[in-house]
Amino acid sequence: MRFSLKIWRQPSAETKGSFAMYQVDDITGDMSFLEMLDVLNEGLIARGEDPVAFDSDCREGICGACGMMISGQAHGPEVTTTCQLHMRSFTDGDTIVIEPWRANAFPVLKDLVVDRSAFDRIIQAGGYITVNTGAAPEAHSVPVPKPNADRAFDAATCIGCGACVAACPNASGMLFMAAKVTHLGELPQGQPERASRVVKMVNQHDHEGFGGCTNIGECAGACPKEIPLDVISQLNNDMRHAMRHQPS
Ligand code: SF4
Ligand code: FES
Repeated sequence: MRFSLKIWRQPSAETKGSFAMYQVDDITGDMSFLEMLDVLNEGLIARGEDPVAFDSDCREGICGACGMMISGQAHGPEVTTTCQLHMRSFTDGDTIVIEPWRANAFPVLKDLVVDRSAFDRIIQAGGYITVNTGAAPEAHSVPVPKPNADRAFDAATCIGCGACVAACPNASGMLFMAAKVTHLGELPQGQPERASRVVKMVNQHDHEGFGGCTNIGECAGACPKEIPLDVISQLNNDMRHAMRHQPS
């Protein structure tokens, strides 16, 4: 297959960007989207041109590094990560538009690479959890009901990719943050700091410049880990509870 690629090129955070057109040939349906970009970059390097910068690490849908907008959709036409998207999802001869995430809280560093450290700072703001350290406790000494364990585990599958922010018209980071709040809030070990954690994380989220949630749901639709929208309800409940019991 061959494709026309319209790619955002931006040399640095300080310079203005613009789209550039490229062609790639000899692409097979079994190639991942990143492998297709590798083919493009090998050609650019061979011609002495600057390769297109993009982020990737695991290439297995685990690390969350590879996010980009593909023809207007976060991670492209399938609900998966860009590294797990295959070229068989496109039609031979397609023109594909490739852009970085667009959000004030995710400034572009170069081409398709954005700075997602705002997510790290939200997690850091949440702080520690109070657990006994030392020898590993006996597995059944802290009972966790199965539904809570399952919900905590499902929320913990968030990989911090940022697709939820990119898909949201408000560039809100609520789905990401709510996944973290839910993951700890469902477990006994997450209870002592539950109220203070949610307040600190929401404050940091707003400070970073993410928008508010208006229940549009694009975030959950774009999430490669299928984090459900109702984690945001859980975050809002925790937040209300924390505000009611805040010391005056
Ligand atoms: S909630 Fe989903 S889309 Fe958002 S950062 Fe986590 S895995 Fe990515
Ligand atoms: S490169 Fe790790 S999730 Fe895509």
